[in-house]
Amino acid sequence: MTQEVTPQAAPSTRATDADSATLANLLQETRSFAPSDEFSGQANAQASLYDDADGDRLGFWADQARKHVTWNKDFTEVLDWSNAPVARWFADGTLNAAYNAVDRHVKNGLGDRVAFHFEGEPGDSRSITYAELQLEVCRAANALAALRITTGDRVIIYAPMLIESVIAMLACARIGAPHSVVFGGFSAEALRSRIEDAGAKLVITADGGYRRGAPAALKPAVDEALSALDAAGTNPVERTLVIRRTGQDVAWVDGRDIWWHDALAPADVRHEPVWVEAEHPLFILYTSGTTGKPKGILHTTGGYLVQTAHTHHNVFDLKADTDVYWCTADIGWVTGHSYVVYGPMLGGATQVIYEGTPDSPHRGRWWEIVEKYGVSILYTAPTAIRTFMKWGDDIPSQFDLSSLRLLGSVGEPINPEAWMWYRKVIGANLTPIVDTWWQTETGAIMISPLPGVTATKPGSAQVPMPGTSIDVIDEEARSVPNGSGGYLVIKEPWPSMLRGIWGDLERFKQTYWSRFPGMYFAGDGAKRDDDGDIWLLGRVDDVMNVSGHRLSTTEIESSLVAHDSVAEAAVVGATDETTGQAVVAFVILRQEFADQAAQGDKARQIEESLRSHVSKQIGPIAKPRQILLVPELPKTRSGKIMRRLLRDVAEHRNVGDSTTLADSSVMDLIASRVK
Ligand code: WT7
Repeated sequence: MTQEVTPQAAPSTRATDADSATLANLLQETRSFAPSDEFSGQANAQASLYDDADGDRLGFWADQARKHVTWNKDFTEVLDWSNAPVARWFADGTLNAAYNAVDRHVKNGLGDRVAFHFEGEPGDSRSITYAELQLEVCRAANALAALRITTGDRVIIYAPMLIESVIAMLACARIGAPHSVVFGGFSAEALRSRIEDAGAKLVITADGGYRRGAPAALKPAVDEALSALDAAGTNPVERTLVIRRTGQDVAWVDGRDIWWHDALAPADVRHEPVWVEAEHPLFILYTSGTTGKPKGILHTTGGYLVQTAHTHHNVFDLKADTDVYWCTADIGWVTGHSYVVYGPMLGGATQVIYEGTPDSPHRGRWWEIVEKYGVSILYTAPTAIRTFMKWGDDIPSQFDLSSLRLLGSVGEPINPEAWMWYRKVIGANLTPIVDTWWQTETGAIMISPLPGVTATKPGSAQVPMPGTSIDVIDEEARSVPNGSGGYLVIKEPWPSMLRGIWGDLERFKQTYWSRFPGMYFAGDGAKRDDDGDIWLLGRVDDVMNVSGHRLSTTEIESSLVAHDSVAEAAVVGATDETTGQAVVAFVILRQEFADQAAQGDKARQIEESLRSHVSKQIGPIAKPRQILLVPELPKTRSGKIMRRLLRDVAEHRNVGDSTTLADSSVMDLIASRVK
């Protein structure tokens, strides 16, 4: 497959061209914010980290591995890269992820520390200590074992943000059964394909969860996915465990479905963790790529834990005995894995998790939660920040946010305006902001300022983390000089790197390692400013970023084309004030439908049914913001759709250079339809 890879093709870069005038102004006002007195010298991170890592990279990682992780058997070799690009880190060491996240804190006398404050959307709340959590994780591990789930078996978790969901992940880790969490917002069809690809023996789900003031069902999607697999004769699932959250009626398949509480009740609270080798798979997490089929990103145990714990300690400056940390990500995304479950728990953090939406029952809900629990570290996404900006300063200002001392951002480039608003309105003009760049594939934060060390700069993720080897290169793989743009690559293996795509080694090599031989190609455009700091410019491939979630243009196109009425479809990510990018679809209808669409309000109906079709096939997040019915699509002479031109249309710009089109009149035709 040919990939259109040019930095210019990056979705209009919020932090650069589009906002360059504002950016220049902002930077003139405040080029950067030096560490405050509170952080200087007091922060977990010290400038010496960079020197240590530069001096002896592998020695640095060995130190981190022994500092942040408790090994059952110590490792002797740090890295084996002889089978590149599949790395082996700390390979002869053995350990257990759940033991590291829970038991060792209890052993160290910290059992009474709260691990999670759970805040339900309806206002119910519950706190659980590390000691209590240990008992629950052990019971769950014994319950899984009683269902004959053993080391190596895959378990799908399709559940809301509940303490039980975290317990489920840790119970899997405790017995060495890789989990694959599927975001609760994904459809039955998306769930089905993930269950099948992972070959999962067990699905852990819930009756539902609360969202926007009402219970939303989850179990029906599991039932639908499993029926479809049964019908196809490819169902690997033997059992489902169902967490009761809402009390909704659920359909029940006797002999297959078991209530979570019934399975846990008789289980013993003692359980010996299964000590696995460092390279034992910890989880598979599916993410969108440039082709239709989602990729099962594989992470293993040792290196992943080392780097998530190390980055959490240094980037978020966690002081575990006093801080209250809140990462707003759902466990269905990698941020929920690395910075709700594994990174912070290895650090013994006290965390907040919240089940619902930010506007339920009112738009101050998050700030109410910050006040209620005294949250001191908040980690969220630019799309949320921009939404709060839109809702107005007077909402957060009604709450006491003085406990906040550090703010983080992740998921997409944060535009300088949003960065400044975040610091000013949420952070009282005092808090450092860490803009953290990383990916599902990288497992842990790779580029970020370090609080107490780096003078922060609005809109830039700035500095590669110590021990990583990140560069911005041109087409010929040469490092670009300061002031220039190019492609973001990683030149040396890192501990929490993906170990492959589940069941598809060839695709792993092809996707990440073929564009620039010997280097990991991240798929992002980036620029170095005059100080050498890195600015992310968005994806350079056919991957969109909607509200910090990755969506594949091809996957949505395939879904549209699968609809009866559609002859051809092209999807682009158009700049959106709130969600960063939004899905805009250009659709050519089959003749009979096109004829119908020409009359009255029939076109609207077709557009609506296409939107709900995509939502049903992939999930509500993939639903196009806009569907444009067009007679033609702009194609090059070799038949490749020129999405760049469609993006111009979707973003209401004058259409750029269309001289390579096979038929240059097409764009006029499309533009006339759109107006
Ligand atoms: C893509 C990875 C990492 C967890 C959330 C998303 C974009 C992520 C930033 C940032 C600019 C960012 C990139 C990356 N991205 N963080 N701080 N600045 N862009 O994980 O779904 O794997 O998506 O998100 O384009 O490639 P993901």
